[in-house]
Amino acid sequence: MRKKVIAGNWKMNMTPSEAVELVDTLKPLVDNPEVDVVFCVPAIDIIPVVEAAKGSNIQVGAENMYFEDKGAYTGEISPAMLTDAGIKYVVLGHSERREYFAETDETVNKKMLKAFEHGLTPIMCCGETLEQREQGVTMDFIRQQVKIGFQNVTAEQAKTAVIAYEPIWAIGTGKTATTEQAQEVCKGIRACIAEVYDEATAEAIRIQYGGSVNAETAPELFAQPDIDGGLVGGASLKPDFGKIVNYK
Ligand code: 13P
Repeated sequence: MRKKVIAGNWKMNMTPSEAVELVDTLKPLVDNPEVDVVFCVPAIDIIPVVEAAKGSNIQVGAENMYFEDKGAYTGEISPAMLTDAGIKYVVLGHSERREYFAETDETVNKKMLKAFEHGLTPIMCCGETLEQREQGVTMDFIRQQVKIGFQNVTAEQAKTAVIAYEPIWAIGTGKTATTEQAQEVCKGIRACIAEVYDEATAEAIRIQYGGSVNAETAPELFAQPDIDGGLVGGASLKPDFGKIVNYK
């Protein structure tokens, strides 16, 4: 039985002092031992959020990371910086990073390999545009993102990974994919992992849905057999996140 993983992606919101306030507000609301609760926060918020989350069930994640260990990469954050600061998870290949910061399947793959090397759990994002959905190539596109993203990742590593299926047209639009659409793609992703690896890996890997998840839509989405939780943007910045974490 896979444990659900419900993660907030704060994106570029919350100054360090606002971040601490938000953690203090949410801490009592997200206390659900049945679920892995992760707050993925901006780099500058990591240290204060790790401190503020101490003694709670909140695990802290980063929103991005570079694929080299150290060196002359002005402005980047290394995996060792993250682990030293107490980070467990890292979001990789979010569609906003692919669209605005030129991330590709290849750079996402390099980051995946580096994250595993440092014991970080990647939350690898994939998802189609509205145009791709209308052209009927959703699954082809996502299979490519997954296959390249996981190149040279071992089965043992893949078993611990999280994949977030986030249809681009559902992000920040208030337009959630229907439960059937979300389940269908998450099932397809699991089948792709079974093809690349084996059934045991496909059974172990956790697949989230993301895109306008809120307290109303979460219960039905998370009840689907192939949806193991969510990656939540806007609603993770509000007390509503407590309801999402306690969706049952
Ligand atoms: P929203 O929940 O705001 O649509 O964002 C989803 C997302 O991109 C999470 O990574």
